[in-house]
Amino acid sequence: MEALTSSQPGQPPRHVAIIMDGNGRWAKARGLPRAAGHQRGASAVRKVVEGCVDLGIFCLTLYAFSSENWKRPPAEVDDLMGLLRLYLRREISGLNSSNVRVRFIGVRHDLAKDIRSLIDEAEGVTAGNDGMTLVIALNYGSHNEILAACRQLAEQAAAGSLQPADIDEGVFESCLDTSDIPHPDLIIRTSGEQRLSNFLLWQAAYAELMFVDTLWPDFCRENLEQAIDEFQRRDRRYGAASG
Ligand code: FPP
Repeated sequence: MEALTSSQPGQPPRHVAIIMDGNGRWAKARGLPRAAGHQRGASAVRKVVEGCVDLGIFCLTLYAFSSENWKRPPAEVDDLMGLLRLYLRREISGLNSSNVRVRFIGVRHDLAKDIRSLIDEAEGVTAGNDGMTLVIALNYGSHNEILAACRQLAEQAAAGSLQPADIDEGVFESCLDTSDIPHPDLIIRTSGEQRLSNFLLWQAAYAELMFVDTLWPDFCRENLEQAIDEFQRRDRRYGAASG
C-alpha cells in the first residue's frame, strides 16, 4: 500500500489534481468562440502532463468533464467530447511510451460508445505501466461517486455479506472510483474561482488547495513548478499541533 500514502514533509506532492477552469474566459477575452478556449485548454493538458512526467509526479488527476457539465449547450458538450476523442487517439501511444498508466474515473454508461471503447483501450494498453498515473475525471462528480459507494455497501449489508459495524474508511474507500489511487496532496484550480465543484470531495480531506488566477489555456510548466514550490513550503499537520 506504499503507493497509496501521501507525500512526505517538504517533498513534492505525490498526487496533483487540477480543476482546469477558464477556457471560456480565455476565448472571450480574444473574441473567439468558447470552442477555441477548449482547444487551447487541450494543448495545455498535453504540456502539463509532460511537465508532471518530467517532474516525477506519481499521479496527476485532471477534471475534464463533470457530471454537471451536461447542462452546457449540446454543441459545447460535443466540442468537449470531440477534444477528448482527439486527445485519446493522438496521445495514448506517446503516453504509453512515457510509461504513463491512464485511468478514468466517473460514470461511463452515459458516454458515447466510441468514447467508452477509447477509454477501455487507453486503460488496457497502459495498464502495465509503472510510471506516472494519469487519471482523467470524465462525467465525474463526487456526490454520484459517494452515493454509488453507499449503495454498494447497503446491498452487501442487505445480502448479509457485510456487517454495518465493519464499515470503516478502508471499506468505504474500496468502493470509490479512486480505490487504487492515493488521495490528492495538492489540488489546483485555475482562473481565480475558489471552490471544489464536486471534485474529489472525500479524497480532498487533507489536500492543500491552491487557487491561481491564470486561465487554464495559459497554465504552463512555470505555473506548475510555482504551485509545487509553494506546496513544499506549506505545513501539513493532518490535525496535529503546529511544531
Ligand atoms: C472549464 O472551463 C473547463 C472545462 C469544463 C473542460 C476542461 C476541458 C479541457 C481542458 C479540454 C479537453 C480535456 C482533455 C483531457 C483533452 P470553462 O469552460 O468553464 O471556462 P469559463 O469558466 O471561463 O467559462
